[in-house]
Amino acid sequence: MTETQKSATLTLNGESYELPIFSPTAGPDVVDIRKLYAKAGVFTYDPGFTSTASCDSTITYIDGDKGELLHRGYPIDQLASKSHYLEVCYLLLYGELPTAAQLEDFETRVTRHTMVHEQMHNFFRGFRRDAHPMATLVGVVGAMSAFYHDSLDVTDPWQREVAAVRLIAKLPTIAAMAYKYSIGQPFVYPRNDLDYAANFLHMCFSVPAEEYHVNPILSRAMDRILTLHADHEQNASTSTVRLASSSGANPFACIAAGIACLWGPAHGGANQACLEMLKEIGTVDRIPEYIARAKDKNDPFRLMGFGHRVYKNTDPRAKVLKQSADEVLELLGVEDNPLLQVAKELEQTALNDPYFIEKKLFPNVDFYSGIILEAMGFPTSMFTPIFALSRTVGWISQWKEMIADPQNKIGRPRQLYLGETLRDYVDIEQR
Ligand code: CMC
Repeated sequence: MTETQKSATLTLNGESYELPIFSPTAGPDVVDIRKLYAKAGVFTYDPGFTSTASCDSTITYIDGDKGELLHRGYPIDQLASKSHYLEVCYLLLYGELPTAAQLEDFETRVTRHTMVHEQMHNFFRGFRRDAHPMATLVGVVGAMSAFYHDSLDVTDPWQREVAAVRLIAKLPTIAAMAYKYSIGQPFVYPRNDLDYAANFLHMCFSVPAEEYHVNPILSRAMDRILTLHADHEQNASTSTVRLASSSGANPFACIAAGIACLWGPAHGGANQACLEMLKEIGTVDRIPEYIARAKDKNDPFRLMGFGHRVYKNTDPRAKVLKQSADEVLELLGVEDNPLLQVAKELEQTALNDPYFIEKKLFPNVDFYSGIILEAMGFPTSMFTPIFALSRTVGWISQWKEMIADPQNKIGRPRQLYLGETLRDYVDIEQR
């Protein structure tokens, strides 16, 4: 972050205040208002953080107008086609693409941590079978702080490293266990001879009673979904993780907070909501009805998988996933999948509609991911847990960056108070 010669002047009640301006390596300049309250006695007002940079970061950059997503400078489409999930994890965590030896070492470390503490099985069994797997995930990841005491000290870089590897390694195991528990099947232990995505499919779909071979095409598609969701700069769940960890909370508690935030339908829950919407629409002739509802101000309905706070042109992840959906369905021999047909027709109709054009609403990452996941055999309730396990590396990378920053201080937003001013307590008989 370089302070430029430029500054902004704020005039307030006849007084002028110079506010320094910082220039990023990419993106808009930021006005530094940190001393504004001390000097001028005013707060700034920005609900939803639409114009506020909450931190500085070197991990991910998004240009919403160009539809560009870069991790450590590398474009997501190159990473999705040439790299794979664990290599992208390394890039996000450590800043550079690994050498072959570094990658092997990292993959070995992650692979060696895939099993969960055996006593965690009992913890799982305390949940109702019909619990949403996200509810189970929030609880179990939070509970990791009760199982792994040797990686709770956030002031120790080594413990932070161990916690990071544990979380990346165990999230697929925990998500798969949540799924198995919900359908009444036995937990399946990880297999360290399989790669990250293939192992996840194995833990979800194999049963002890028979052989299960992971289809390499499906594991590649799974890996691509994980890669595309790995990080997305300061979105709601990442900001939640940063805010939670600003108090010095342990990493497992912070990631559990991120998972809880991700669950909402405006964020990670949109993939489940999107597929449910496509099923509800059912056939292409009903699309105009749903487009009309999405445009109706008096109807709370929104087109799920459409729109984004940052992307105002195209979501580069959606482009890759649309292609992946075609490939996976063709390979599975279900290219005439009715949901895919509804999705494609809905996309075309919306993209040609003035409402969506004017508001710059495009399909986002969640629009096609659900179709692929369903074709693989996942129920809709598993879509958001899969998003959570892939985003864990992003949360951890941002968490590590924040903890290592000497300027890190507890997050404490201010408010515009509109409530009652001081008044005297009234006894109950007099109310
Ligand atoms: N369908 C219909 N209208 C929409 C939609 C939509 N999906 N998205 C935004 N709008 C309208 C909205 O009504 C508003 O209209 P007006 O200006 O007339 O009031 C305008 O577009 C701007 O919307 P906003 O809510 O102010 O925009 P935002 O940046 O706060 O919200 C969003 C972004 C993603 C929450 C929103 O587009 C949305 O709810 N989309 C559907 C849910 C979804 O797909 N979420 C996944 C996001 S990507 C994955 C992730 O980050 O987790």
